[in-house]
Amino acid sequence: MTILGIETSCDETGVAIVEKNNNSFTLLSNKIASSLSLHARTGGIIPEVAAREQVKFILPTLSEALKEGITFDISSKQIPDIDAIAVTYGPGLIGSLLVGVETAKTLSLLWKKPLIPINHMYGHLYANWIENIDIEFPAIILIVSGGHTDLLFMKSHNEITVIGETRDDAAGEAFDKIGRLLNLPYPAGSLIAKLAEKGNSKAFLLPRPMIGSDNLDFSFSGLKTSVLNLVKKNNWDFSDENFRKDNQDLLTDLSASVQEAIIDVLVKKSIKAASKYSAKSFLLGGGVAANQLLRKRLQEKLDPDIRFVSPSPSLCTDNGAMIAAAAFFTVHKPWEEIDAQPELSY
Ligand code: KG4
Ligand code: ZN
Repeated sequence: MTILGIETSCDETGVAIVEKNNNSFTLLSNKIASSLSLHARTGGIIPEVAAREQVKFILPTLSEALKEGITFDISSKQIPDIDAIAVTYGPGLIGSLLVGVETAKTLSLLWKKPLIPINHMYGHLYANWIENIDIEFPAIILIVSGGHTDLLFMKSHNEITVIGETRDDAAGEAFDKIGRLLNLPYPAGSLIAKLAEKGNSKAFLLPRPMIGSDNLDFSFSGLKTSVLNLVKKNNWDFSDENFRKDNQDLLTDLSASVQEAIIDVLVKKSIKAASKYSAKSFLLGGGVAANQLLRKRLQEKLDPDIRFVSPSPSLCTDNGAMIAAAAFFTVHKPWEEIDAQPELSY
């Protein structure tokens, strides 16, 4: 069975063709176009700009994915040899989501293929299955992205519950907002991780909000405020080129200390959840899951009897393959019943 997956919830236009047989997935193609470089300059995503770029990218990306995956020429007026079309219908930015949803509906009508609406968060979850089809239940999943920090309990493909979430900022949002205080381009997560490699994580003792709380929830806005206070108190001006040049160690030490604080909390709550729910597998998902130190710490600290699974870094950030993968575990719907839902929850 072969599924075309379309992801346009935010600033990435992802189109992939994924094949599944009994015991493996094959990525026939996985194309991504991104408007990230435009947002790097503005320090965050401007929804209108993201939507316009989605419109620009969707057909070329679709055309490339079909050509590379199944040597199909989109201008041939033929019907491609796929079994269904999967598309992200939420959560995300309404303008961006609509581009993918309306494209998928049109293709479904034109090619007479079933349409499968996919929740973006389930896409992040099912990215784990692409390279590990034999995941055992029960599983605990930590989804860490720019908008979400969620712990999920998965008893089976149809029984998924949220057991913990952030009360304010998401982990990725904390990286990005602190990045702005350090005058780093958006999104700052991978840059902070890179700077942290050269820094001392014990240089600044930053707070670990809610680390000892009697639940599985998170909070990251206090960490951001604490970095802001530190920057203000010391009159550090990271926007000044000369200051940056003379204070490279400060930047790397701050980055390492911030990363350590975020990871400490994520790991502590993850271990707690895995033990409470007697998990056989622990899965990671979302952009922050690409963080190498987070993966290493989880692997080191989780009970060795629990299988640790994480998608390859390129499958952690938004892509079409994860949407197609999720579709193999979901039923299709008539196109008339599918609408973009920006606020969709699990
Ligand atoms: O899942 P994603 O691509 O988009 C959303 O659905 O939000 O996640 C993007 C987030 C951003 O906040 C970015 O800073 C963060 O993932 N991120 C990282 C790393 N790579 C991306 N955070 C920490 N370490 C990384 N290596
Ligand atoms: Zn995402």
